[in-house]
Amino acid sequence: MKKREYPLGKVYGLLEPGPVVLLTTEREGKANVMTLSWHLMLEFEPPLVGCVVSNRNYSFEILCETKECVINIPTIEIAKEVVACGNVSGRNQDKFKKYGLTSESSTCVKPPRIAECYANLECRVVDTRMVEGYCLFVMEVLKAWIDPKKKWPRTLHHRGYGEFMVAGRRLKVPSKMR
Ligand SMILES: Cc1cc2nc3c(=O)[nH]c(=O)nc-3n(C[C@H](O)[C@H](O)[C@H](O)COP(=O)(O)O)c2cc1C
Repeated sequence: MKKREYPLGKVYGLLEPGPVVLLTTEREGKANVMTLSWHLMLEFEPPLVGCVVSNRNYSFEILCETKECVINIPTIEIAKEVVACGNVSGRNQDKFKKYGLTSESSTCVKPPRIAECYANLECRVVDTRMVEGYCLFVMEVLKAWIDPKKKWPRTLHHRGYGEFMVAGRRLKVPSKMR
């Protein structure tokens, strides 16, 4: 197999964990939503998730202040809205209204769940030690919801520059080689 060198600036697209998510936050009754693909699992139970939220984003200051969010997992049906929410700031506009997303009340946190997303994880920030160096917030998932009808959700996996791979094909691989 002949390989060619790959630009360092594009490496994130190779390791992107996916799925791309929509992070909702809320402050003083005003909800916001941003697209996020830099996240990682840190613990099974209670589930801990690390999310990188740039300090240039409006969501960063809301998250620092309120320490609550919902990680909403969208599917291919709302791909356009996912990209739009990742290219516009909610500082001066309501992205829910602008992109026709439906907010539903959460049970454990103030930020709303997005009805159009197949799964929603209500989270509380439990560790901010890496925010200063990496803008990395560690969240504990307090409550999780899924649409049971979507068995193999067609989630979006960012490859960089507005390009995505779509999941959904099932592959079962036995753990033991015979
Ligand atoms: C596919 C995609 C993935 C993104 N992933 C992240 C991410 O992991 N972290 C981040 O801080 N911004 C990410 N962004 C950019 C933010 O979503 C974007 O800056 C957004 O406008 C922030 O909104 P806000 O200012 O309302 O918080 C991503 C954007 C796109 C389109």
